[in-house]
Amino acid sequence: MTAPQAEAVIDLDAFGANLEALAACAPSSAQMTVVKADAYGHGMVPMARAARAAGTDWLGVATLAEALALRESGDTGDLLCWLAAPGADYAAAVEADVEVTASSTDQLAEILAAAPRRPRVQLKVDTGLSRNGALGREWTALVAAAAAAQAAGRVEVTGIWSHFACADEPAHPANDAQEAVFVAAVDELTAAGIEPGLRHLCNSPATLTRPSAHFDMVRVGIAAYGIRPDPGMTYETPLTPVLTLRGRLAQVKRIPAGAKVSYGQTWTAERDTTVGLVPLGYGEGIAVSASNRAEVLAAGARVPLVGRVCMDQFVVDLGERSARRGDAVVLFGPGHDGEPTAEDWATASGTIAYEVVTRLGGRIVRTYEGGA
Ligand SMILES: Cc1ncc(COP(=O)(O)O)c(C=O)c1O
Repeated sequence: MTAPQAEAVIDLDAFGANLEALAACAPSSAQMTVVKADAYGHGMVPMARAARAAGTDWLGVATLAEALALRESGDTGDLLCWLAAPGADYAAAVEADVEVTASSTDQLAEILAAAPRRPRVQLKVDTGLSRNGALGREWTALVAAAAAAQAAGRVEVTGIWSHFACADEPAHPANDAQEAVFVAAVDELTAAGIEPGLRHLCNSPATLTRPSAHFDMVRVGIAAYGIRPDPGMTYETPLTPVLTLRGRLAQVKRIPAGAKVSYGQTWTAERDTTVGLVPLGYGEGIAVSASNRAEVLAAGARVPLVGRVCMDQFVVDLGERSARRGDAVVLFGPGHDGEPTAEDWATASGTIAYEVVTRLGGRIVRTYEGGA
């Protein structure tokens, strides 16, 4: 069978090995694999299945819709979600045994009002990220409301959690400060008569670098997909990028010196050269900001992307290398064969590797290899 012209090949063995390495990094804590946003572009349902097969304890998603999609796929394990606007379908979530997060007294009241039976709820405290989570006096009010509801048998509080702002900078003073606020928030909850069950604070970078914050569970996202949270750091934990993005040249042709390439004619051939047409564009999530900056592996070498990235395609300069229509092009992968990595593409396009993989979509065909 002919390979798709735009394909993400996902190595489930590498994913399992990353999860295992991350588990070894936090050996006394449970592990949650974060599969929100289509598993960072890797495909939520297959990655969720692979994470379960690799022994992860929990799955984490942002929205109720993601949680319900996992349940529809047959997933029955521990599952937490954390981001809901008013009017979210908490009844469906509770029916489906999804644990939901309350970040304010209002949200807790909404969950309790909607729940068809006693919901399992985790409380989120804002320790310094100023995103969702209850802050200061609102936290105290949330603890009181949760304690009253639990005493009345209306809720089961199963956890307390928060999220770091600067964990990818291990020496940043915000990390110590947030951890201290978290410990105080746990104490406040315990003093109100709620045994918090699961306490969790770490994302990937904190899991890799901050054992003091591992508590009962760590929540790993980007590192599970084999991408370093901070590309400038070397972590002791071995991580292998899981996703290889590749395509096949749709056209190969000679252009003369002076020929200009793609919209806006931002690149001019300095000599006669061979160009290859790669059938992926911003419709697939390839950033326009990578224009004239990124590289791909084609015709056995790293060659530059020239001219502007278009909706469906971009052009690479193959020079005097020989290539044929249909030949493979690797945009990024683990880097083992000389291809760029998602981190390289992030640098080239002025963003973070999280975004490079998460925005992949459009007409890309996902192919899964390995796995149990
Ligand atoms: C609440 C929460 N926990 C954990 C993660 C995982 O973070 P990372 O991908 O850095 O591991 C995320 C992702 O942003 C998140 O929103």
